[in-house]
Amino acid sequence: MWKFLNKKSNEVEKTNVDFDINNIPKHIAIIMDGNGRWAKARNLPRTMGHRAGVETLKKIVRECSDLGVKYLTVYAFSTENWKRPPEEVGGLMKLLVEYLSNELRELYANNVQIRTIGDVSKLPKPCIDILDKSMHDTKDNTGLVLNLALNYGGRYEILRAVKNIFKDYKEGIISEEDILNIDDNKFSGYLYTGGIPDPDIIVRPSGEERLSNFLLWQCAYSEFWYSNINWPDFSIENLHEAIADFQNRDRRFGGVKSGKNK
Ligand code: FPP
Repeated sequence: MWKFLNKKSNEVEKTNVDFDINNIPKHIAIIMDGNGRWAKARNLPRTMGHRAGVETLKKIVRECSDLGVKYLTVYAFSTENWKRPPEEVGGLMKLLVEYLSNELRELYANNVQIRTIGDVSKLPKPCIDILDKSMHDTKDNTGLVLNLALNYGGRYEILRAVKNIFKDYKEGIISEEDILNIDDNKFSGYLYTGGIPDPDIIVRPSGEERLSNFLLWQCAYSEFWYSNINWPDFSIENLHEAIADFQNRDRRFGGVKSGKNK
């Protein structure tokens, strides 16, 4: 039985999952999938599924913050999601504005820093405005970094990095020699996630077992955790299960080191 005193809200979070509080993954990435199926099962419009998904997001952000996770990256809107019906795209954009407008105060109070990955310049103006405000207001916070993947695609991110390397070369910021000697670390610095460690674990609920263009470069050594639960039903207990499972994996990073993460 895991018991944890939530320092900010003074609530006691307990689940039946046994995990080590001293070995919490530094970076958790989540593909928040299954909102549509959750809504369909209840004869509700898809947007209601996304709305329920936001409630789960709030809960998981709070818990990650309390557990001392340093980075939480959530896939909120992919470069491919523009193909969805305009009402659904509009609904998601509206939810983003609502989420940040309603939650910013609490996120700030909980020392959460908001960041984004993806080409947010293509989002509607109200989204850009609230994102700018949220990032500006929380930029000095030192707790959980909530990284919102918006208009994000892993392939686009890698291509963009290559183009930016070429641009830096043309502008004389880097030399031909620098390009020829570029390594993983330097290349990573050109990605949206530059400066952020790669995700330790990628969580995907809803029964799908694929990456869907999420963090393609960064997931080289990430552990994957899947479950059949749709995102709106994803619970604190499920998060604890993912963490416990992660702690029992044997991460060798291509070497021979043995011993669990625990
Ligand atoms: C995938 O479920 C989910 C999305 C494309 C959007 C995720 C967005 C949210 C949880 C809410 C908005 C986020 C913020 C930050 C306010 P799906 O629609 O593909 O589900 P399905 O596969 O069951 O149809």
